Amino acid sequence: MEILITGYAGFIGFHASREFLRRGWKVVGIDNFCDYYNVKLKRDRAAMLKGQRGFSARELDICDLAGLQNVFAEESPDVVLNLAAQPGVRYSIDHPFVYQKTNLEGFLNILECCRHAAKVPKLVFASSSSVYGGNKKMPFEESDQVDTPVSLYAATKKANELMAHTYSHLYKMQTIGLRFFTVYGAWYRPDMALSLFADAMLHDRPIKVFNNGDMLRDFTFVDDIVNGIVRVVEAGNLPLYDVFNIGNHKSEKLLDVITVLAESLGVKPKMEMLPMQPGDVYATYASIEKLNKAVGYEPTTTIKDGIPVFAKWYREYHGL
Ligand SMILES: NC(=O)c1ccc[n+]([C@@H]2O[C@H](COP(=O)([O-])OP(=O)(O)OC[C@H]3O[C@@H](n4cnc5c(N)ncnc54)[C@H](O)[C@@H]3O)[C@@H](O)[C@H]2O)c1
Repeated sequence: MEILITGYAGFIGFHASREFLRRGWKVVGIDNFCDYYNVKLKRDRAAMLKGQRGFSARELDICDLAGLQNVFAEESPDVVLNLAAQPGVRYSIDHPFVYQKTNLEGFLNILECCRHAAKVPKLVFASSSSVYGGNKKMPFEESDQVDTPVSLYAATKKANELMAHTYSHLYKMQTIGLRFFTVYGAWYRPDMALSLFADAMLHDRPIKVFNNGDMLRDFTFVDDIVNGIVRVVEAGNLPLYDVFNIGNHKSEKLLDVITVLAESLGVKPKMEMLPMQPGDVYATYASIEKLNKAVGYEPTTTIKDGIPVFAKWYREYHGL
């Protein structure tokens, strides 16, 4: 079986590529190595995959339709896993057009290539917990209304779900959206809170704590996310179109997360309390019942087990 993974040099894409290779899949990776964050980290992840049996990669932008069409002419993947995206809630406030390009135009290119492929693949794509916006009802369920996003990033992810639904309806191709909830682990993204905290803590700077620390997040360890992705990719019994939450089903207090991280790094944190940031949401909390019923998904990693794994990798990778 062959899987085409876009964004393979990204945080989740790297872990997913490794796992599919381990399971004997042929993996074709696509990434444009954009400089949203440290490109060396993406190159280092890609280098870990290069040369592995069954792996090949192309440096390509999913906005390059002709380039993407060439890939689909040469490869015939059974599954396309679309993880390439411009992520980040706060960044979307100042850089709206990158989101329009990659998340909307790029995603449309993926849909079009899948639709016209000689063998139409199953499309599994990354959505986000941010589609729930400022919803108050917890935990978030897939049947909740998601019509009131509070960032452009969230709006593009919700748009992806609508676009995918349209293609499933019109062309009978299978599309499954996965709403990831704050993923973390080794080889982590440097723009995410845990990385920013670790960097500040290890350089004896105060960490910036928004909304005075009064925030709740469903933190999901990357191995659990990958386990959920694998189950969805390999399941033969899913409907033509669906969306699922993939979270940890535990909403953690931000200050507790900071405590576990500081303990894992062996430091005492200094904190600078700041107001809520535009585009941010107060809480996320995933209901995972739907994915559990569909494919038996059950996360196993608590923050007490997962954060030390991130902390150890962070120190080693940065030589700190
Ligand atoms: N990490 C999380 O907590 C989280 C939460 C919710 C949703 N998601 C979604 O999961 C997916 C993967 O996220 P991640 O954390 O691994 O992010 P990431 O930025 O580490 O990975 C994305 C990869 O896509 C590549 N990319 C970006 N634009 C591209 C383009 N136009 N063409 C080709 N490649 C491109 C980047 O170079 C990067 O390597 C994204 O769609 C993201 O929106 C992530």
